Amino acid sequence: MKKTFTSAEKNPKFPCIVLPFYENSIDDNLIQEVSGHSEIPEFKGSFKEIRIMNHPVSGNTIYLLGLGDREKFGKHHVPFRLLAHQQLKFWKKGISVLAGHLDNPAYESIGIGLGMASYQIGKFKSSPEEHPYFSEKFTIECQVPKESKELILRGFEIADTLCSIMSLVDAPGNEKPPQVLGEWAVNSARKHGYKATVLDKKALEKEGLHAVLAVGQGSKYPPVLIKTEYRPKKNLSRIPMIGLVGKGITFDTGGLSIKGSQNLHYMKSDMGGAAAVLGAVELAARLKLNIHVVGIVASAENAVDANSYRPGDVIQSYSGKTIEIIDTDAEGRLVLADALAYMEKNYTPEHIIDLATLTGNAVMALGYAAGALFSNDDDLAKRISAAGEKVQERVWRLPLYEDFESELESDIADVRNFSGKPIAGAITAAKFLEFFIKDHPRWAHLDIAGVAFGDSEFSKMKSAKGFGPRLLLEVMEQLSEKS
Ligand code: BES
Ligand code: ZN
Ligand code: ZN
Repeated sequence: MKKTFTSAEKNPKFPCIVLPFYENSIDDNLIQEVSGHSEIPEFKGSFKEIRIMNHPVSGNTIYLLGLGDREKFGKHHVPFRLLAHQQLKFWKKGISVLAGHLDNPAYESIGIGLGMASYQIGKFKSSPEEHPYFSEKFTIECQVPKESKELILRGFEIADTLCSIMSLVDAPGNEKPPQVLGEWAVNSARKHGYKATVLDKKALEKEGLHAVLAVGQGSKYPPVLIKTEYRPKKNLSRIPMIGLVGKGITFDTGGLSIKGSQNLHYMKSDMGGAAAVLGAVELAARLKLNIHVVGIVASAENAVDANSYRPGDVIQSYSGKTIEIIDTDAEGRLVLADALAYMEKNYTPEHIIDLATLTGNAVMALGYAAGALFSNDDDLAKRISAAGEKVQERVWRLPLYEDFESELESDIADVRNFSGKPIAGAITAAKFLEFFIKDHPRWAHLDIAGVAFGDSEFSKMKSAKGFGPRLLLEVMEQLSEKS
């Protein structure tokens, strides 16, 4: 869609007018002036509250939109997205947003929310929904102070990346084999000016990424390792470097330790960590951050086949450590073990963060309210927690106590991939990863199984949440400011 910016006092260009307010900060005069009514309906401005008024003379439709608590700006995009999602069928050529009275963070939210509303989940329908909103024919007029234009445009950029990765997460397993994730990265890199390389099966064999190969060996789609890298063009005296690692299982059947069929279709979302990493690197490039970012995604399909790896197998890994497979459904930690070891061996990031839809146990512990955070560095953990609070993509720290180390001891290999016990599953998974990142002093792992994909007001079934890129963007911006 097109965006135009005008200073506050002009008459709105379109007959559909959005008037957003924080909770308990309603400007009665403004509502009276815009709506032409002296009586104002009951409206508190609470989160996602929507009141529709009609101007008695012009016939304009006025949407009073509640943003909720002024301080919780990390989720102010949601009301904008919801309003557009619900009402855009009534919109023809454009809408006017009257928002000169808001705080700075809300301007980014306008862009994120209205941008995310153009996400079309039904892209595999034979005749996808058509509406000017999804094209350049639609205009969003923003009546805001001059300085906020950049913030709104930044919001639209963020939304564009989020829509693109949500579309990947929602895509069915047959439409996004590992190679397709690789192509996504290559296309994005070309478009936004960063580097992306895809190691195919041959290259994985040559480089010795045995764990990724083992997980993918039962699938007709070969596994890949996707390497992306964004470097700022500016010549700064010191450019910090961050390494991001993502789990990219394009479909997780559980392998020979096969999962039940209930909700199995949702295992197409087992590349939510990969999507977060790909999105974060794209955003770093689009927003030209002053930080050097390397994103690595290990992608495979965990399939059931005569060639699948078996429970009881001992496999090699990139790190040189051998792994006894107890459960082939604990595949995410295997591909991450290789990707983390690859990151450590080939790059020198000061911080490493991995993201993965790793365990059902993280969902048991924190539900859909927060991701599980693990870190060997208190400062990094605090930084990520604070960033999560700020953008309202919450994470909650769990411990990496050494008590759990014995759970992963194997008689016949260096480590086993599952304790065999139904306790502390998110922690033992994190301990497994720690075994492969041992020497790196500033590493964090985010188990996003509960937050990457789920119920929402935007779809009938569970769908992609777009979790990750905004959180990582906040962390990256902070780390770049520090230097
Ligand atoms: N992809 C799953 C974890 C998952 C569960 C993600 C629910 C999203 C929603 C992962 O590969 C898995 O199967 N983990 C097992 C590990 C177990 C076999 C040690 C689990 O959590 O049950
Ligand atoms: Zn699994
Ligand atoms: Zn999985």
